[in-house]
Amino acid sequence: MSRTVYVNGQYLPEGDAKISIFDRGFLFADGVYEVTSVVGGKLIDFSGHMKRLRRSLGELELTSPATDEELLAIHRELVARNAVDEGMIYMQVTRGAADRDFAFPPEGTRPSLVLFTQAKPVLQSASATRGLKVVSVPDLRWARRDIKTVQLLYPSIAKMEAKRREADDAWMVEDGFVTEGSSNNAYIVTEDDVIVTRALSQSILHGITRAAVLKYAAEAGMRVEERAFTIEEAKAAKEAFVTSASAFVTPVIEIDGARVGGGQPGPVARRLRDIYIAESLERAE
Ligand code: PDD
Repeated sequence: MSRTVYVNGQYLPEGDAKISIFDRGFLFADGVYEVTSVVGGKLIDFSGHMKRLRRSLGELELTSPATDEELLAIHRELVARNAVDEGMIYMQVTRGAADRDFAFPPEGTRPSLVLFTQAKPVLQSASATRGLKVVSVPDLRWARRDIKTVQLLYPSIAKMEAKRREADDAWMVEDGFVTEGSSNNAYIVTEDDVIVTRALSQSILHGITRAAVLKYAAEAGMRVEERAFTIEEAKAAKEAFVTSASAFVTPVIEIDGARVGGGQPGPVARRLRDIYIAESLERAE
């Protein structure tokens, strides 16, 4: 069955959706995106994703294609038209189409707005039950990882390197410290049960799931420390896990071939996953 997608004001069958070859998203990766998960036909933390979209647009001086209310209406319409129960909505905004030039096009160039759905199970995922194997790779991305741009070539290469090494994902390392996963934020749990994750800066994406999980962890009386950690510290940790809109909280059971937490998903990651799912379902819209 063909999906209905959204392109610049129109709902179309996916095969009929068109974007110009001059679109700056295509030529320069000049665009930003958000991925929002859908559970029971409802959107998880939509307002968080809108806040980050606004920030990304602002940092790149991109024109907003629509108001938050209009974007919410498009998300809901796509969920309804595609009868999505569980899955994701991908939304991308680019600087629009203009003749190829490194300088930004003149003011008034219309940004491009594209959205599509991906139906897939998110609550019951095999990787959450089994846990992920990760490998470390150097972080070779640009220096503004706090902006959610569509330049995903290096994360894609990192993911392929993980597959080549028979792992599920890559943790990126810069100056000896883990920045984040290829498409998620990275955490460890220390011997004395402190949850450690890198502090926010331009070096990592400010995960919407990260913000929610740290808040719920603190409310549940768990100790949280925002600081950088090394791969060696992670290998010796009691537990490790990642968070993202698509993975929620997913345990990590192996790092560069070394078992973490005895090679089994740990109690802290499992508990945080349960809390995160319960709390976000209550707030889903
Ligand atoms: N990725 N770090 C990176 C590099 C990411 O690409 C993502 C999200 C995250 C987690 O952010 P959030 O909790 O807001 O999803 C961290 C999305 C899911 C993706 O590209 O598909």
